[in-house]
Amino acid sequence: AVERTLVLVKPDGVQRGLIPDILERFQTAGLELLGLELTYPSEDRIAQHYEEHHDEDFYPTLLDYMVDQPVIAVAYEGVEAVSTARKLVGDTEPHNAAPGTIRGDHAHITTQHANNEAKPVKNLVHAAEDRDAAERELNLWFDEGDLRPVGRLD
Ligand code: CMP
Repeated sequence: AVERTLVLVKPDGVQRGLIPDILERFQTAGLELLGLELTYPSEDRIAQHYEEHHDEDFYPTLLDYMVDQPVIAVAYEGVEAVSTARKLVGDTEPHNAAPGTIRGDHAHITTQHANNEAKPVKNLVHAAEDRDAAERELNLWFDEGDLRPVGRLD
């Protein structure tokens, strides 16, 4: 089915100059661009985005990682867009992410987990987990009227 999904290039992805590489992967996989914005999200927006993580040990540091930091929000449309985007992104943990995925190719593997530190995994990119999350997150990051397929050259 044709679906829409929400991707974020997180602050480490923006600051490491990976925006072109990351966006190219979604484009070449056939996802169509609907919306794109560089923004410095408020605490309220990040709290809503990560509502399922409020009770986690790493949540305060997840706020530090994301709030008022440069983030690119991207809306895509395509066949099986939600699962396609997740596949391109790879596993949450950089050491589990397969080569060929964004995280597997670029995310830095650190010792934070071995040391049990309550720090956020800096994994460059986010993609909505399922269709419900995708619709919820699209509404959080974009105004519905701003999401339109950009079209193609004939
Ligand atoms: P994301 O896919 O955006 O979803 C939630 C984010 O929280 C995740 O990427 C990581 O940045 C972070 N995260 C998830 N699990 C952990 C964990 N066990 N420890 C630290 N950070 C995590």
